[in-house]
Amino acid sequence: MNLKESFEKIKSNDFVVEIYGLGYVGFPLAVRLSKNGFKVIGIDVNTERIERLQNNQLMDSELLLKNEFLESRERGLLELDDKSNTDSNPKIGIICVPTPIPTETTSSDIFVKSAVESFLKYSKKGDAIILESSIEVGTTEKIEKIIESRGYSIGNDFGLCFCPERIDPQNKEWGIENIPRVIYCSDDISFEIAEKIYQNVNNGNLIRVEKPKIAEVVKSFENAFRLVNISLVNELAILCDKLGISVKQVIDAAATKPFGFLPHYPGAGAGGHCIPKDPRFLLESAKKMNQQFITIENALEINLKMPIYITDKIEQILEQKGLEKSVLVCGLSYKPNIEDMRDSSSFKLIKEMKNRGFEIFGYDPFFNIDYVEKYLEENKITELDFERLNDLDYERIKNISCMCIVQHHLVDKEKIMSIYEKSVLPCIYDCQTKLGKNKQSRTELYYLGE
Ligand SMILES: NC(=O)c1ccc[n+]([C@@H]2O[C@H](COP(=O)([O-])OP(=O)(O)OC[C@H]3O[C@@H](n4cnc5c(N)ncnc54)[C@H](O)[C@@H]3O)[C@@H](O)[C@H]2O)c1
Repeated sequence: MNLKESFEKIKSNDFVVEIYGLGYVGFPLAVRLSKNGFKVIGIDVNTERIERLQNNQLMDSELLLKNEFLESRERGLLELDDKSNTDSNPKIGIICVPTPIPTETTSSDIFVKSAVESFLKYSKKGDAIILESSIEVGTTEKIEKIIESRGYSIGNDFGLCFCPERIDPQNKEWGIENIPRVIYCSDDISFEIAEKIYQNVNNGNLIRVEKPKIAEVVKSFENAFRLVNISLVNELAILCDKLGISVKQVIDAAATKPFGFLPHYPGAGAGGHCIPKDPRFLLESAKKMNQQFITIENALEINLKMPIYITDKIEQILEQKGLEKSVLVCGLSYKPNIEDMRDSSSFKLIKEMKNRGFEIFGYDPFFNIDYVEKYLEENKITELDFERLNDLDYERIKNISCMCIVQHHLVDKEKIMSIYEKSVLPCIYDCQTKLGKNKQSRTELYYLGE
């Protein structure tokens, strides 16, 4: 079957979508496509994850999709497996696996390649692959070569697209269904196939680019833009600390400019597996071209400096006040209202404080003890080097010198406000400048950047 014949079958829904990697990207995609009537097989090499899903056990952040997930499962439209399958109908493989920071021994495409290999094991002419993982420049072309080495002719009897995911989990305004997507397709029929699929994801809002490298650079550049702006504002916060002015007031005033300014707010540093990672792909690319990308290098350096700076500040405050070096780090995930602990600045902050002899307590309403091993691995640490609190019980925390809020979660908002109002502990250090000042409180409230 060539791609044209394959597309005829796809038009009448006689095809299968295999989604590789059922994480933050692949899982919602699998649910959405199956909910919209496609036959989907969700594939993950993590057999525990497959088992949990087969038992309808979802992670907290996935609970919003539970009804749709259950409905798709009941309708037999969403199967779960740890490996690929054969199918006489055309198969579209969508690759949503991790892309780690490359090291001397591991390349960033290690999982992408293995997922593609799994798909190719049972593929046939007329099938297509869509890469959604955030990949290093040149990866799509490498995948093209792997596919061609199996005797397929890309653009004739096999399709290849790269459509980087832009999802921002828990963002209520912009979700999988309304975020426009950039896409590279090897040929026009593959683009029509992609349109048919993304019609059921984001109404087919696709911006087609001419070359794979364009789409690859777009993805990394979007996150480099965020990283550079976050680092810019964090460095500004350090200056504002020294000037004794509020960085938030500076940003809010600057944001009244109706053009050419995009407000970013300070914090303990960008975390997660996208913003501090994807810009490194541009660094790798620049290195291969014998070029430097100094803006990104500096931004990454500032990002790593933030936990050290915050520790310095808190240490100074506690010394001045003659208080014990005991700190409760509140909000461990790298973004608000989600359990995602990947590469989170709070773990870096804790490490720095521990190295300086602080006694550390840690609390996050989303921290799930069942996932401790995952959190350790994701933060490259061997043990939880703090005492974990299950809640913000006043009695439990009243002897701690300082609460350092790294991440504000909505569910804790009232509780934290009342801890402050009731002056439960001597100081609060808010890395995100979000807790409103209260003159009645005897707790000293400090902001990063004031
Ligand atoms: N999380 C986000 O907000 C986000 C946003 C945009 C883009 N991305 C990108 O999307 C990709 C996936 O990210 P994620 O956050 O969903 O990762 P994740 O770690 O949440 O999930 C990836 C899943 O892939 C599985 N996996 C690994 N190798 C596999 C293989 N060969 N076959 C099948 N499954 C395999 C893992 O077991 C894991 O469950 C990455 O490239 C990431 O940079 C993530």
